[in-house]
Amino acid sequence: MSGTRASSDEKHSFADPTEFTPHFSWKRTPRNNNLETVMCEGVSLVRGADKIGTPTYFYSRAAIEDAYRELNRGLGSLPHTLCFAVKSNGSLSILQRLAKLGSGFDIVSGGELAELRQVGVSGERIVFSGVGKTREEIREALRYPPRRRGEGSGILLFNIESEAELEVLIEESARNMRPGSAAPAVSIRVNPDVKAGGHPHIATGQHQHKFGVDWAEAKRLYLAHRASKWIEWRGISAHIGSQITSLTPFREALQRLSGYAQELRQEGIALRYVDFGGGLGVRYTDERPPSRRAYARMIAKTLRPLGVHLLLEPGRSIIAPAGVLLTRVLYIKENHGKTFVVVDAAMNDLLRPALYGAVHPITRLTRDRRETRTPRKRADIVGPVCETGDCFLHDWPLGEVKPGDVLAIWTAGAYGMSQASNYNARLRPAEALVEGNRYRIIRRRETTKDLLRNNSLS
Ligand code: LLP
Repeated sequence: MSGTRASSDEKHSFADPTEFTPHFSWKRTPRNNNLETVMCEGVSLVRGADKIGTPTYFYSRAAIEDAYRELNRGLGSLPHTLCFAVKSNGSLSILQRLAKLGSGFDIVSGGELAELRQVGVSGERIVFSGVGKTREEIREALRYPPRRRGEGSGILLFNIESEAELEVLIEESARNMRPGSAAPAVSIRVNPDVKAGGHPHIATGQHQHKFGVDWAEAKRLYLAHRASKWIEWRGISAHIGSQITSLTPFREALQRLSGYAQELRQEGIALRYVDFGGGLGVRYTDERPPSRRAYARMIAKTLRPLGVHLLLEPGRSIIAPAGVLLTRVLYIKENHGKTFVVVDAAMNDLLRPALYGAVHPITRLTRDRRETRTPRKRADIVGPVCETGDCFLHDWPLGEVKPGDVLAIWTAGAYGMSQASNYNARLRPAEALVEGNRYRIIRRRETTKDLLRNNSLS
């Protein structure tokens, strides 16, 4: 299974993440020619960790922008908007950098809408997905500021996931629509019933999953509400899963989706948007996902004959490889011949290994050039949380480390910070964004004051 380990006993061979993680590299240190250290663009991560402390997420702006541009270019002249999936990383500075590149955004909650409002993203760059939008969230989105005053308010597209949700949207639209303004643009998320890779928790495209609406039901809804005053059908959408490492399920799902759009066209319902969700996988260890360019070109080729505007909702493929989580070794512990390296990051900071069995390679930030060829000492790398599951990697060839050393947990930019919690009353980590030779803190580390703010005694 891609990005996840088949069993906790499986032995991993070492792959150097800098070889497949652009903008991160080993560099010789000036004072000792044999000593190398990890750089993120022009910044030494050891120095960054010393300054900001650990655990801290570091991101490369260049990696984010290159990934965005690669998808964008791959789509060529096909009319399209990339709508970055905010759930994968909602750090305001990152959203802002993407907005500057022209990105749109895919949201799944009122909280994410508020984040975009804070960044200053206008409504026509936002699509709202998710199976359980509340009435209040729908209302917020209907009232979201347009680009220009006087234009219909609201967002680019609501992706609705059930008839019940559609009814709430219609009610709210009827209550909130100002005279003369356009009805909200709506699409149905259909379930194309395609099996696509990834961990069972993140596969979505089959009928046994909670997402989307069967085609027969969706078509019935499109036809039943074709003349509605309160909504306007503008699109059709699908998202078949996440961390998908082959183009085949994408191609199959997209062909089905185009077929559905054509059927609707024959009924006189001409949709402007096909929203194809996200889901492109990345390399964590030994996966071989298609390149962003190959994925984008396949989509452009499949969709071009339909003459629609494509929306894509990439998350992981843009932000995962752009981020690392830095953590410091606290203790080394030997137990019955096994070595445990206890670090200061835990499952609350990066949940993916504990929740999905995900494998994020871990390396030290410095190495002796000569040691790369010698076999490495293996260890379990564990966090301080009181759960056996709080283990980043079992039996991993980390090499010799000592307390105080800083380690990098790689490919952690997506669903890392955004899934962080305060479990064990731990403070959520800081985040820093590297831009060339500089970095800045984009989210400060939480304090105990933050932790206690909403927690009252009586
Ligand atoms: N659009 C929709 C409607 C989605 O549900 C998702 C992700 C995306 C776009 C973005 O998918 P991406 O391009 O990132 O694969 N926490 C899990 C991943 C959950 C994905 C949920 N939906 C993980 O850490 O692997």
